[in-house]
Amino acid sequence: MSTRSIVAAAMLLPLTAVADDISKGEEIFNRKCSQCHTFAMAQAMLEPVKEKDRPEHLRAFLETHPAKLDANEKDVVIKALSQRTR
Ligand code: HEC
Repeated sequence: MSTRSIVAAAMLLPLTAVADDISKGEEIFNRKCSQCHTFAMAQAMLEPVKEKDRPEHLRAFLETHPAKLDANEKDVVIKALSQRTR
């Protein structure tokens, strides 16, 4: 088994945990970030960024972005925004 398929398998296993994380991230987003754009709009703006590059991209981006999140909220929101839900 290649490293790639092991990683893929590890990502597929906790499907329900991932779904929970997405809704938690969306919930925080709706509370703290939705004055200016919706979660769906933020995801649409992220389209050009490859999914695997999103956590790093978002971590840097959110450093200077309005509406501060604490470290824990930031992790959850980044995880949610980094998933392709469609
Ligand atoms: C004061 C208004 C405002 C708030 C509050 C805000 N944003 Fe944004 N956001 C913008 C604007 C304007 C853009 C598009 C321009 C840009 O990229 O800076 C944007 C773009 C984005 C993008 C696209 C990134 C990219 O690479 O282009 C993401 C992701 C994002 N916001 C996430 C968030 C999150 C998460 C929060 C809450 C912590 C948040 N935003 C709060 C105004 C806001």
